[in-house]
Amino acid sequence: MSEPRTPVFAANWKMSHGPAETGAFVERFAARHGPRGDATVVVFPPAISLAAFAAAASGRPDLEFGVQDVHTEVEGAHTSGISAAMVPATGATWGLAGHSERRREFGDTDVDVGRKLVRLLEVGLRPVLCVGETLDEREAGRLATVLETQIRDALRPLGREGRARLAYAYEPVWAIGTGRTASPADAAEAHAIIREQLVRAEGCDAERAVILYGGSVKPANIDALLAAPGVDGVLVGGASLDPDSWAAICAAGR
Ligand code: 13P
Repeated sequence: MSEPRTPVFAANWKMSHGPAETGAFVERFAARHGPRGDATVVVFPPAISLAAFAAAASGRPDLEFGVQDVHTEVEGAHTSGISAAMVPATGATWGLAGHSERRREFGDTDVDVGRKLVRLLEVGLRPVLCVGETLDEREAGRLATVLETQIRDALRPLGREGRARLAYAYEPVWAIGTGRTASPADAAEAHAIIREQLVRAEGCDAERAVILYGGSVKPANIDALLAAPGVDGVLVGGASLDPDSWAAICAAGR
């Protein structure tokens, strides 16, 4: 029997919490959430708040953090861009790639996402590849095709070693910020499709692939979602912005 995968509780703050709010958040959250050796807690603040997060969490190495996006290039004339090479100096150890809001608002393609994964891996960050279908795609019966295409095209530039270091987040676009959560059965179905694709087409080890669920996760539904087969953790937006609500989520299964 292989080792169970350690659950991951990840917070994506998107464009909330500047440096001042970040310090206050960490202080309150840390008072409510003691270190737990049986789970990973990671926060993705806006890039401008990474230093504030690092400073506020300096006494709590169990509170990991990461960057929400990086540029496809390492350096150059790319106003407002953030190079993956700049990130490790902040103390961040994780990086998101392919969030549906990046795809929709900034036009990130699967090829761009693949290049960002390469950049994150080059500097030793742990990427989380976000995938998910729109409501139209789901209703057209294209769930498996969409997930498989997003994974195949993003993973194309990665070698076997890089692939083994990725985590994944299944985030159905119709469940993000809508209050409409995928049922545990929906999440289990999509996670099984992703895991199957990783093993069959990408040469990954099924037992080691960490797949998070994201989309309207909150304290009231965390237990049911985490109990769904193949759900190894969560990526939380709105409900991670309040330190008490985030602490309640991070206490699941304790
Ligand atoms: P919500 O939890 O606000 O639905 O956002 C989910 C998400 O997009 C996390 O990356």
